[in-house]
Amino acid sequence: MAATSFTVNGNPYSTDTESNTPLLYVLQDDLKLNGAKFGCGVAQCGACTVLLDGNPIRSCVTPIAQVNGHTVTTIEGLGTVDNPHPIQAAFITEQALQCGFLRQRTDASGISIYRPTAECDRGGYFKGA
Ligand code: FES
Repeated sequence: MAATSFTVNGNPYSTDTESNTPLLYVLQDDLKLNGAKFGCGVAQCGACTVLLDGNPIRSCVTPIAQVNGHTVTTIEGLGTVDNPHPIQAAFITEQALQCGFLRQRTDASGISIYRPTAECDRGGYFKGA
């Protein structure tokens, strides 16, 4: 069994877990990162959303082998209470309420299209995205 190596929230990680094990299980069980949740388990609800090289994926249906050599960012790696990501800060400013299950879907999806440039509209979203 070949090891799978990837970066999680800026930290290198390697595992010998079976190659078809869902990424979500490794995040929760091995790394104790519980921000991504198990909801439907079939890529429909988005509760398990994380960023893979900056793009949102459903970690419940992503085999661990698929992230080998890549970068995974969970909601724990997006920002902190004292230093939130601009998307998270916008949620706070606009008082956009999200439940704990769907928070990572909206944050990760929003951040994946966020572009802090002059080409952005008022909310920081890339025009035309
Ligand atoms: S748990 Fe619902 S999309 Fe992954």
